[in-house]
Amino acid sequence: MQDERLTQQALTDMDPAEFRRLGHQVVDWIADYLAHPERYPVLSQVAPGDVKAALPQTPPTEGEAMDDILADFERIILPGITHWNHPNFYAYFAVSGSAPGILGEMLTAALNVNGMLWRTSPAVTELEEVTLSWLRQMLGLPPDFWGIITDTASVSSMTALAAAREHLGLGVRQQGLAGRDDLPRLRVYISEQTHSSVEKAALLLGIGQEGVSKIPTDAEFRMRPDALEAAIEADIAAGWRPMAVTATVGTTATTSIDPVPAIAHICRKHNVWLHVDGAYGGPAAIVPEMRWVFDAVDQADSLVVNPHKWLFTPIDCSALYSRHPHVLRRAFSLVPEYLTHTAGSQVTDYMDYGIQLGRRFRALKLWFVLRYFGERGIAERIAHHIEMAQEFAAWVDASPDWERLAPTPFSLVCFRARPAALADDEAALDRLNDALMARVNATGKAFLSHTRLNGRYTLRLAIGNLRTTRADVAQTWDLLQEELAALVASA
Ligand SMILES: Cc1ncc(COP(=O)(O)O)c(C=O)c1O
Repeated sequence: MQDERLTQQALTDMDPAEFRRLGHQVVDWIADYLAHPERYPVLSQVAPGDVKAALPQTPPTEGEAMDDILADFERIILPGITHWNHPNFYAYFAVSGSAPGILGEMLTAALNVNGMLWRTSPAVTELEEVTLSWLRQMLGLPPDFWGIITDTASVSSMTALAAAREHLGLGVRQQGLAGRDDLPRLRVYISEQTHSSVEKAALLLGIGQEGVSKIPTDAEFRMRPDALEAAIEADIAAGWRPMAVTATVGTTATTSIDPVPAIAHICRKHNVWLHVDGAYGGPAAIVPEMRWVFDAVDQADSLVVNPHKWLFTPIDCSALYSRHPHVLRRAFSLVPEYLTHTAGSQVTDYMDYGIQLGRRFRALKLWFVLRYFGERGIAERIAHHIEMAQEFAAWVDASPDWERLAPTPFSLVCFRARPAALADDEAALDRLNDALMARVNATGKAFLSHTRLNGRYTLRLAIGNLRTTRADVAQTWDLLQEELAALVASA
């Protein structure tokens, strides 16, 4: 009997007192880290394979002490981390997993519930419904926008396009697409600037790359409605069936804003599903002066906004809205006996509206973030990021050695160095800016990324981190100038 109790103790989880000690230690570590993430190089300085080489290649047979594991976290893992929390992280889209969001994430891990059905944790479903309704109101959208949380915009857009395909009424759910000669070929319209995730979604849904029509953009990288309409009409005449248009509010390369009112009008006229990708730019609509970016978005059939981008929520958390939840349900609901229940139709089972069965409790961190900062606090923070980016853009505009390569509607600045000596040599300018970015990133003091606009190598400085101050942005501007001077001098 005595032996059996001992064995059972050994087979349980960590001792609660030990968990308390380590938990305090980890929280202290996080608090110190968040207080000064700038003490680390923003871009990890490890070489490929360094992290793997420092780790045993075979699994531990016996359990190890958590103190040793945490020590290895600092020794091996941390050097291989690129610090998205660093105030001078300006690459891709800068984000913040804010403190309230981190606390929510910790409790989500502790509860470890699965929100597949309402009854598998009623609060998971009902908090998701409520937080998404709050977010919808903050974004100025009407009540018929029903929402679901997914992990990423990639999955949100794929879910939306699956609904668009179902909406066509072609019996794809039952009969599939392959081998059917009764079907027209399906077309999805995006712009040259649309995020690759939308094209990937089309690939997954059997539309094929030939089924993705990339509409040209104007001088400010916005989808051209005239070209969209012409493409749709030509396709219909040639026997294609338009399935969906994706308009983007805040494209990835430049944050351009597609003209949603004109695009919505074309979609209505031709009865085509309109999906709006506001993954990055959507939260800006919370700022009263920026509300215009969501003009006509209330006419979209679906919309994605990522709280894990510019809404201070730790990755991952993406909000998908649609005015047609019944179509999502038609596309995705498949209930085996073991998932049936008697809770009735007054509850939502989120598993019926997407590809995932198991669902994390992501609404908890979003709820913490929305409550902690409030609508005003969020709007002020986003507005501050936009202001800092406008200030940086003005410095670029005022400097003869630099130029801006795209408008700056949000908090991303697209620019390049263009010293007079190289002013008309595009190939040399590409090499110079590539080398400049590499030098700046190698300092570990700032991290920028790039894109290509009209064939030109373009630097991107994205501001979206809660810890970024005007002084950080000014220091980064100085750093860019110093590195440019050093490059030019060494040429
Ligand atoms: C406009 C836009 N849409 C979609 C995505 C994809 O986001 P996710 O990483 O959540 O799939 C991005 C990523 O940066 C984006 O900028």
